[in-house]
Amino acid sequence: MPSLSQRLAGKVAIVTGAGSGIGQGCALMMARHGARVMGCDISAERAEATAATAHSEGFEFDSVHPCDLTQPAEVDRLVRATVARFGGIDTLVNAAATADFHWIEEMEYEAHWRHTLTAELDTVFLVCKAAWPQLKARGGGSIVNFASANAYVALKNSAALAHCAGKGGVLAMTRQLAMEGGPHKIRANTISPGMIVTGATRPVLERPELKAAVLEKKMIARLGQPEDIAWAVVYLTSDEASWVTGADFSIDGGATAW
Ligand SMILES: NC(=O)c1ccc[n+]([C@@H]2O[C@H](COP(=O)([O-])OP(=O)(O)OC[C@H]3O[C@@H](n4cnc5c(N)ncnc54)[C@H](O)[C@@H]3O)[C@@H](O)[C@H]2O)c1
Repeated sequence: MPSLSQRLAGKVAIVTGAGSGIGQGCALMMARHGARVMGCDISAERAEATAATAHSEGFEFDSVHPCDLTQPAEVDRLVRATVARFGGIDTLVNAAATADFHWIEEMEYEAHWRHTLTAELDTVFLVCKAAWPQLKARGGGSIVNFASANAYVALKNSAALAHCAGKGGVLAMTRQLAMEGGPHKIRANTISPGMIVTGATRPVLERPELKAAVLEKKMIARLGQPEDIAWAVVYLTSDEASWVTGADFSIDGGATAW
């Protein structure tokens, strides 16, 4: 796909989870709109595939992988590599996460509950903390974190207890980041996607009763695609959104509006 615009020209972006789904969609869409992107993923294979797509389209795109964002030293390595490669950081798109789905009676404390909260919250906190001085040094920046429709509503047939807690945490944490970032012109917003077809959700969507519950809630009766989210990320990370902070964008086909 050729370059679509220069709305993000001059911006350096870290996009975590760039190997799959929403992170991949955002990383490629941002490159197509002029950003220089540093991808990152715990999976080297998936990260390399995304980087290869970006390079085949002629974009300035690099990647740190494998990189486990639950480990502070790994996150520091990502930030250092981005500054060394591109000279600074303007934008964080924190899409990397994993979650364990179990009903409360089967949910194990360490293996499921703690694992999910670490994978959904620490990955966001650690990247924001490590990159914060770089955003300040640039005179401002934009952070986009991913909450979820599950931060607002429970979905029938979905064993999402830990995920709901993690995403509610991301939503609240991002408002606080917006408040702390205001004096430094660091903006922080969340997107709360409804069900998007990605590597994480494809297996779940094979369960007919769950897919039916998802589609029943949509005003626009289709599943979401990573690009549905990536278009909003282009806006939020561009200067067009310079007065937008502390906000949450529900992009869910209307699922949480009724
Ligand atoms: N897909 C949906 O329906 C949906 C809905 C609401 C919110 N979200 C959120 O959007 C974000 C992206 O979700 P997705 O569906 O694209 O997921 P995905 O599983 O398709 O992609 C996530 C990527 O992050 C990487 N990753 C996971 N943990 C990591 C870690 N510790 N360090 C580095 N990389 C790591 C994975 O390897 C994977 O490539 C997540 O925060 C998710 O909770 C997704």
